[in-house]
Amino acid sequence: MSVLITNIGELVTNAPRDAVSVASPGPFDVIPDAAVVLDEGLVAWTGPASLAPAADEFVDAGGRAVLPGFVDSHAHLVFAGERGEEFAARMAGLPYTAGGIRSTVAATRAATDAELRANLARLATEMLAQGTTTFECKSGYGLTVPDEARAVALAAELTPEVTYLGAHVIAPEFEHDPADYVDLVCGDMLAACAPHARWVDVFCEQGAFGADEARTVLRAGEGVGLQARVHANQLGPGPGVQVAVEAEAASADHCTFLTDADVDALASSGGTIATLLPGVEFSTRQPYPDARRLLAAGVTVAIASDCNPGSCYTSSMALCVALAVREMHMTTAEAVWAATAGGAHALRRTDVGHLGVGARADLIMLDAPSHSYLAYRPGVPLIAGVWRAGEPAV
Ligand code: NIG
Ligand code: FE
Repeated sequence: MSVLITNIGELVTNAPRDAVSVASPGPFDVIPDAAVVLDEGLVAWTGPASLAPAADEFVDAGGRAVLPGFVDSHAHLVFAGERGEEFAARMAGLPYTAGGIRSTVAATRAATDAELRANLARLATEMLAQGTTTFECKSGYGLTVPDEARAVALAAELTPEVTYLGAHVIAPEFEHDPADYVDLVCGDMLAACAPHARWVDVFCEQGAFGADEARTVLRAGEGVGLQARVHANQLGPGPGVQVAVEAEAASADHCTFLTDADVDALASSGGTIATLLPGVEFSTRQPYPDARRLLAAGVTVAIASDCNPGSCYTSSMALCVALAVREMHMTTAEAVWAATAGGAHALRRTDVGHLGVGARADLIMLDAPSHSYLAYRPGVPLIAGVWRAGEPAV
């Protein structure tokens, strides 16, 4: 069953025009007064509405904008409890530290599978309603073999982009034996989690894991077929970005405190994306990452939510786009590209983040004529429709 969506005011494709088939996201591009045909779950045709072919079904977009679905390449959704009081205390002047993670660890361990599954499903539904059609999900609030294994197994019920983050912080039981915890993360815990995961991640930061520990974790993960990504340079300068680039990680995430050498390393990397998470800076009152410096150096930038109960409890990619534009001085085009095609690159996905012919038919329709309204009308629910793999989802 093919569907023609026509009378689109602005179709953001992130794909070269007139290509017969598009194998991966390209640069930001829009077609004005456009139409798109979806067939068999894929984008079958895009172009000016006046040239649109016939299809089985017809949708009139009424001049609204249509974009690729958001690709949220960084989220921590398997958890129980909440940390609203910690947030309120921060807003009253306390700093954010990695230590808060442990309170979510305690709540998560105490939760039943059904409770964790329900919370994860609630957040996934919330994300879809806001236009996120692909999301990554990390473990990291279990920190025992069975608790990490159930986290990745639950995440895998909802997304193929599952990340093993046993190396989130040192488990409380190993506070005095961090080397033993790293052994566990690289040994029995990895063995139990790897069958459910595609990625291995490590929080390389003061208060979490140092450079050598991070390298050890990434190498162990790679040894069983997981690909690397790194929480890097979030709370201060440090080795995270260098470790990520050395490991040929798909992404170095946060990138808030970077030296010139870090920026150079990302720019000359063979494909380590800088994933910026401006919701975290909003929610922790830290300085925002310098997106312009990264873009000027030629680094590929993605934007993701980092949805988690501690440092950033938003699932809204639209808010992250607005923050990227207002606070990080990205253009509206750069920010929307980073939240769609950028996220796809950070997950090494060629089928999402763009609407080239052959891409998965993941689309959002805005109740607005242009992608720029995501930043121009911040906080306003602008999602008028979502299609996932060609099917109406919202
Ligand atoms: O990406 N940086 C480490 N992990 C999360 C925070 C998790 C938490 O505070 O619970 C982050 O910000
Ligand atoms: Fe994170």
